Amino acid sequence: MIQGAEAEITIQGEEVLKERPEKKYRHEKLDTRIREERTSEEVKNIEKARKHGVNIPETEKTGKTSMKQDRVKGKPLKKILPSEPELMEEVGKNIGLLHGTGLVHGDLTTSNIMYDGEIWLIDLGLSETTERTEDQAVDIYLLKKTLETSHPEQSTELWEGFKQGYRDFDDSEEVLETMEEVKRRGRYK
Ligand SMILES: Nc1ncnc2c1ncn2[C@@H]1O[C@H](COP(=O)(O)OP(=O)(O)O)[C@@H](O)[C@H]1O
Ligand SMILES: [Mg+2]
Repeated sequence: MIQGAEAEITIQGEEVLKERPEKKYRHEKLDTRIREERTSEEVKNIEKARKHGVNIPETEKTGKTSMKQDRVKGKPLKKILPSEPELMEEVGKNIGLLHGTGLVHGDLTTSNIMYDGEIWLIDLGLSETTERTEDQAVDIYLLKKTLETSHPEQSTELWEGFKQGYRDFDDSEEVLETMEEVKRRGRYK
């Protein structure tokens, strides 16, 4: 079992089960509602994004607070990037497609992107329906920060690669400009 920040992941053959267990520190009814809503949102958003061609493993809701997903038999991008920086372009294309779908990921780090010969976005537990440029800017700003922290020596090259792919998205220039504002302001929302 893999203990995530919020969920428990169990590998079961070719699939992974993602279950949101009770959080005892929350009021019970509120906790149930949060876990159920997040599970429904995650599955709904994944289905929507997949229809628009975003590379996310096929996912099925299995209960009120659980889902199963095709297992990516690879590694988190974080581990792979140092030797394969050119992968950032494919990441950029996927995020552009996701934003074009009217969704933001909400937790865009290189631990929530996997690679097994292709790029897969996982963990859409904090994804949201929004077409606001500012929300899209915050989404990619988190990724940029992650690159700067995890790969300080390569972060410029990695970010250039990302932008190259992301530019397929029609509103990309506006988002990138807004990201500069978000950065200056130093607050995310
Ligand atoms: N489809 C998948 N294939 C392979 N591993 C996965 C998959 N989904 C999740 N994992 C693994 O489980 C970990 C936690 O899953 P994640 O969805 O990110 O949950 P959390 O919201 O708790 O962070 C991931 O970082 C990854 O290592
Ligand atoms: Mg995660």
